[in-house]
Formats: sequence, structure tokens, C-alpha cells
Amino acid sequence: MIGAGTMGAGIAQVALEGGWRVALHDAVPGATDRAIDLIRQGLTRRAEKAGRADPARSATDALLALDVRPSVARAVEGAHLAIEAIVEDLEIKRRLFADLDDAARPDAILATNTSALSVSRIAEAVRRPERVVGLHFFNPAPVLPLVEVVAGRASAPWAVERAAGIVDGWGKTAIRVADAPGFIVNRVNRPFTLEPLRLLRAGATTIEAIDEAIVSAGFPMGPFALMDLIGIDVNLAAARGLFEASGRPPRFRPSPIQEELVAAGKLGRKSGEGFYRYVDGKATGPAQRFIDRDGRGIGAQPGPSSIAERVVLAIVNEAYRAVGEGVASEPDIDRAMQLGANHPFGPFEWARRTGVHEVTVMLDALSDEDADTFRPALPLLREAKAGL
Ligand code: NAI
Repeated sequence: MIGAGTMGAGIAQVALEGGWRVALHDAVPGATDRAIDLIRQGLTRRAEKAGRADPARSATDALLALDVRPSVARAVEGAHLAIEAIVEDLEIKRRLFADLDDAARPDAILATNTSALSVSRIAEAVRRPERVVGLHFFNPAPVLPLVEVVAGRASAPWAVERAAGIVDGWGKTAIRVADAPGFIVNRVNRPFTLEPLRLLRAGATTIEAIDEAIVSAGFPMGPFALMDLIGIDVNLAAARGLFEASGRPPRFRPSPIQEELVAAGKLGRKSGEGFYRYVDGKATGPAQRFIDRDGRGIGAQPGPSSIAERVVLAIVNEAYRAVGEGVASEPDIDRAMQLGANHPFGPFEWARRTGVHEVTVMLDALSDEDADTFRPALPLLREAKAGL
């Protein structure tokens, strides 16, 4: 495991719990100590939940299979699988992969946990790109079951299958996905936050009304409460990454509201204020009103069901677009959205339950306001036509 930050520590814990020996390396002194503390806490919590007699002892036992190594070469010595979770920077990752390629055994798989970079471009830095794959875990890695297994242009089927088999063996659900911007979840779920931000900016409704509408529709959390929880800066970085990697389509443009909040240091729960204000970890009400200063509205005030419907329609349309581009299969996208984003239903499941023809009619009605988001995707139109 190269990189001992949030994700490196989480993934190392998952591998230890899966019974693997783990060698951990980080470029920054002290990072591995912090990671070991985190892993110890994580293992102890899980042992408590599993009802073990002595959780602290079982965490200590599990940690015996973890070694800290002083260099990349030492970390990867003899390893079957190397996973990288270092800083999200293409050149730095490419340099690391060249080192991994030199030092790893020839049949080792080299995996990147990148969320927004191209696996194929990372793999260009190595002599044997067929063994490079993406293993995209979600945060917190020990808790969230989904791992997107990304096949780059040069990835060999044996590497993809073996990597998927390994994470399945760790109790995760591996879902195969092509090397396309945002993979499945970061792309298909982007409207979950962007669409509410647009509604808010248009002054059409309030933070609380939107969060309530989304929760009433069966989602575990509203978009603003969620952004405050994961960090508005983290969400903005993901939005920017997808926007740039997809060629800057208007529908993925990051919201000025997020840019303003991040610039003001209002990052959500961790800074005490984001969309809501927090006192002793509890939300005390919305922090401010956000209204588009240009006065561009979205027409009538939407009620709760039309707020939720709008967000779900944008997600469904993105899911159809992704399928049309060959990013993943429909059942895999449905499962990924439920496991990786905690949605109560998959987008295709929802579309078919609602009626695909009805979905195209609803999208058409919204596409005057925002064509890039709502103009029905081709595979959806085709399916609607076939069903008539
Ligand atoms: P982090 O900042 O918590 O940890 C990164 C660690 O890598 C740091 O300890 C740093 O010292 C170390 N590092 C940086 N350059 C290095 C190098 N050349 N060699 C060895 N160690 C090096 O970052 P985090 O959040 O763990 O993210 C890591 C990767 O995982 C990124 O590619 C990120 O996009 C991806 N990711 C992050 C998720 C998240 O929610 N935080 C979710 C899924 C993927």
C-alpha cells in the first residue's frame, strides 16, 4: 500500500481484515504512524461490533500482519498487488508507477485508487501497462462495500479479473467499469449535488426544503447535509475534476456557491459552518441564503416532489448517457449507485418503474431550462421508442 492518508489507511485495514499481509509506505515521515493509529481504531471498532471478547487484543493481533517500509521498492518487494493512494496528481502518480514497475515482481498487479485521473494515462508510464488497473474504493473504505474496478485501455483481462477477485475476497463488491471520467458513481451521482445547487442559486427554494424533499424521496441524507459532512472542498474538487476530464460540459460546471464557500473557509462540519451552522456537532439551521445575483430564476417555486423528481431525472439521464458511452452495464450502474452512493433505487430501476416514455416526457419539459442536463439521452429515447 503506497500512501498512508485517509484512503491508504482505510484500504490497508480492509486488506488486513481480509487476512492479507500488508506493507505500507508513505513519502512523509509520521504519516504511517497516524495511519496505524487510524487502522487500530478501525479494527477495534469492527471487533467490538462483531462482539469479540477483547477487541483491543484482536486489533493488535491483526496489526501483526502490517509492516511499515522505508521505500517504494521495499514496500512492493514480493507483493502480489500494489495499491496506490497518494496525492491526486497525474505526473506524481506516473513517476510512482514507473518505480513500482521496476521494483515489483513481473506478475504483480499495479492498482491506482484515483477518483478522477485516467488509469490509461497513468499506465503509459510503465513498461507493462497490461498489469495496471484502477481499484476505486469509497470513503470510508472499511465501511462502504463498493469498489469500482477500472480497465484502462491496455489493462489485460487477467489483471482486471484477478484484481476484482481479490477485493471480492475482502468482502467488497467489485463492479467493472471503463476508464471514463468519474467512472460510475462520481459521474452519475454528480447531479445529486449540482442540481440542488442550481435550484438554490436560482433562489427557487431553500436549503432545508431541498434536503427535506430528498430525504422524503427515500435518500438517507439531503445533498446539503451530505456536502457539509464530506467537506464542501472535497465535493468541489471532485466536481472540478469531472468537469475538466469530461471536456467542460455546462452540466458539470461546478457551482459558484461552492467556490464562494470554500474561498471563505466554510467547508462544512469540519470548519463549523457550511450550508448549515454547527454547534457541538449539531446543525443549528442554514448559514445563509444563496440567491443568483443576476436574478435568473427557474420559474415557479417547485414543491417537494418536483424537487426530488428533478434531481432523480438528472441522475437517470446521466446514467443512460454513461451506458450509451459503454462505461458500464445497466445492472452494474444500478448496483453501484445503491452501494457507492446509498441510493434507495438504481436509476434504470426507477426509469422502468416510472415508465421510460414518461421519463422522456418529463425530461423534455425541463430541457428548455437546461438542455445539457435534461435533453433526453439517446439510449433513453431509443428505449422509449422501442416500447411505444
Ligand atoms: P491523503 O492526502 O489523505 O493521503 C495521501 C497520502 O499520500 C499522504 O499521506 C501523502 O504523504 C502521501 N504521498 C503523497 N505523495 C506520495 C508519494 N510520491 N509517495 C508516497 N506517498 C505519497 O489523500 P486521500 O484522501 O487518502 O486520497 C488518496 C488518493 O485516493 C487520491 O488519488 C484520491 O483522489 C483518491 N480517493 C480519495 C477519496 C476520498 O474520499 N478521500 C475517495 C476515493 C479515492
